[in-house]
Amino acid sequence: MQQARTRAGSQTKFLLEESQLPRHWYNIRPDMPTGLQPVLHPGTGQPVGPDDLAPLFPMELIGQEVSEDAEIAIPDEVLELYSLWRPTPLFRAWRLEEAIGTRSRIFYKYEGVSPPGSHKPNTAVAQAFYNKQEGRTRLATETGAGQWGSALAFACKLIGLECKVYMVKISYEQKPNRRSMIQAWGAEIVPSPSEETQCGRAILEEHPDSPGSLGIAISEAVEDAAGRDDTAYSLGSVLNHVLLHQTVIGQEAVAQMELAGAFPDVVIGCVGGGSNFAGLAFPFLREKIAGREIDVLACEPAACPTLTRGLFAYDFGDTSKLTPLVPMHTLGHDFVPAPIHAGGLRYHGVAPLISQLVRDGLIRAEAYLQNDVFESAVLFAGSEGILPAPEAAHAIHGTLQVAKEADEAGEERTILFNLSGHGHFDMGAYDNYFAGKLEDVALDEDEMERALHAIEGLPVPA
Ligand SMILES: Cc1ncc(COP(=O)(O)O)c(C=O)c1O
Repeated sequence: MQQARTRAGSQTKFLLEESQLPRHWYNIRPDMPTGLQPVLHPGTGQPVGPDDLAPLFPMELIGQEVSEDAEIAIPDEVLELYSLWRPTPLFRAWRLEEAIGTRSRIFYKYEGVSPPGSHKPNTAVAQAFYNKQEGRTRLATETGAGQWGSALAFACKLIGLECKVYMVKISYEQKPNRRSMIQAWGAEIVPSPSEETQCGRAILEEHPDSPGSLGIAISEAVEDAAGRDDTAYSLGSVLNHVLLHQTVIGQEAVAQMELAGAFPDVVIGCVGGGSNFAGLAFPFLREKIAGREIDVLACEPAACPTLTRGLFAYDFGDTSKLTPLVPMHTLGHDFVPAPIHAGGLRYHGVAPLISQLVRDGLIRAEAYLQNDVFESAVLFAGSEGILPAPEAAHAIHGTLQVAKEADEAGEERTILFNLSGHGHFDMGAYDNYFAGKLEDVALDEDEMERALHAIEGLPVPA
């Protein structure tokens, strides 16, 4: 009751006007203490140039991939599409704070208000726009949980491009409704590994029951795009330009925290390839690099512990070794993570930008078991009302850990986390959790060693 009285008259949602939408994306590269190591051509071992990437990406995105400009203007057409769901709300989690009895203040940025239900369209509309502008008529992509596939299908539909989605087979089976959503936005969708590409067929021959992985689905989409002039490849995470497009999240959050009269001591996000985490965290990391004290925490699944247990190494972005070699934390390109329900976090690598910032000690990481994550998701849904995506629930779990540690130390923190998406298409996962059927999988040492053999003989980063 005491808490409730304190809350009366206090604000829950911090909203920006459409006119306050950020006009540029924030590029963290010029602010980083250590520069990125180059992406290498696997054949020559030399840094890749624009011509190597031109068959897969439009020139504007290739330029953004290597840009050292601090700000990149957002085209008006993209801003117009953003205005369908942006700016997104920032909430003070009063009820969650009460439920756990913490002295800390908890805020969250909610990206689930976009039409597909996550942060993914922030880059999907930008990528579709530049591809259309440079004359491509079709995009090919992969999707894990289905969030990225639906975001790109949505963007292509609104911008006027064809779209082909290779969906990781386990998710294709677990999430028939995401499939229909992708089809509703006019995209073609197949389970991966599929019979439609050479690499899909090769994997099926060796492992007919393969549940698929993001690494495999990326191979299929890259092969598709490389084989057709009308088609470009589109990636929903990992690459510099994708993380760049997501920085609208953090820029809005900086302004909204100001409206709330607060600034975070701790910034938290879940990490698959790293795009929603970067989107929220990078504008705050700019402040940290400038000397402000902020704890920046990346949350990942124990079944795919790329940042906490992987190596920083050159590795392929996909299973069939079609991509350039990328300097990043990795578990090895042929690692197939256990079929946990946070499908969007089942990727063997992490964005080079995040990997480098972890190496520089600016970001720390923790890994969690899925039953603990779902327990936190249900606690959150029971207090704040929103049913989170299993991926986003990792950030909720991380937040609860930080609040608990602060309470135990007799301290209070201002915590901000990214609620990257809702879980309305993840009810099968919740069904399994309630039925006690979710397996807790922590990656075992033997499998990790086996998978890391795949990177032996590849160039070693400095
Ligand atoms: C809701 C949600 N959050 C997080 C992720 C993880 O991706 P990233 O690390 O690029 O944000 C996904 C991926 O599909 C997702 O759907």
